[in-house]
Amino acid sequence: MAKPKVFVARQIFQEALDMIAAEAEVEVWPDELPPPRDVLLQKVADVDGLLSLLTDKVDGGLMDAAPKLRVISQIAVGYENIDMKEATRRGIPVGYTPGVLTRTTADMAFALLMAAARRLVEGAEAVKAGKWKTWHPLHFLGPDIHGATLGILGMGRIGLEMAKRAQGFEMPILYNDVIRRPKEEEEQYHMRFESLDTVLKESDFISVHVNLTPDTYHLISDQELDLMKPTVVLVNAARGPVIDPKALYRALKNKSIGAAALDVTEPEPIAIDDPLLTLDNCIIVPHIASASVATRLRMSTMAAENLIAGLRGEKMVNCVNPEVYQR
Ligand code: DGY
Repeated sequence: MAKPKVFVARQIFQEALDMIAAEAEVEVWPDELPPPRDVLLQKVADVDGLLSLLTDKVDGGLMDAAPKLRVISQIAVGYENIDMKEATRRGIPVGYTPGVLTRTTADMAFALLMAAARRLVEGAEAVKAGKWKTWHPLHFLGPDIHGATLGILGMGRIGLEMAKRAQGFEMPILYNDVIRRPKEEEEQYHMRFESLDTVLKESDFISVHVNLTPDTYHLISDQELDLMKPTVVLVNAARGPVIDPKALYRALKNKSIGAAALDVTEPEPIAIDDPLLTLDNCIIVPHIASASVATRLRMSTMAAENLIAGLRGEKMVNCVNPEVYQR
């Protein structure tokens, strides 16, 4: 029997490609940049399975162009690039990679917090530029991290890991989310559930970990930034559009907040002439919070497992829309 066909929209770990190749005829998009839309539509024309990335728009148009498509496997925990209604309507299971990147992403969010507070990027750049002339009592000052109040917006898997990391720095935690964590957990990690406004007003550091939904789009804009302390360090390792970038620029430029450290931006990649890139008090890295070797390997193999389950007509373990199996 002929093997099913699969399009893998970017190079992933070879271990994962080998797993897929044992079951299917695989084409891998070799370029660093995503396939252009017309090419992607062409590539999926006769595939049974698609392994997609956040950067690939998987909408009804793509599904129309892929009449044989019976599984989509996304190598990410987020899937806002996929039209889930369309996939579910067509009975196509969509896989994703939850859990495996939680701690790695929290590690990075904490690294960003520390880097922005202690001005690591500015300091390193100054050294490279030959500007280290002397030790000076007033050079490169920033806020202490230990003992400071950490505000966490979105206390899901990654938010909770952030809270755990903060324990080592003796940071009391204020948090806001649509649901509250169990009391025992709040006590264990010194967390207090508060209104959004209170978290914004009372935190020395704020780390954003909400999903991007219509409700969280520009959750942080002028009004919210105005509530924050003038020294606050704002971290975003969730999704760029949760923070209004124009409002953030104004707040950083006017020093109405202290600093920001972003793993994600709106749009991605950020334009080279974006004013945020002109600011010393803003660190931006290219959406790499999950980029440890072990985590990206596990994301790759997990995406392969989901894809293979879909090709075999088996239930995938990590499925965004398990309701497709009820039919
Ligand atoms: C995800 O998985 O959604 C991240 O943003 C990339 O690891």
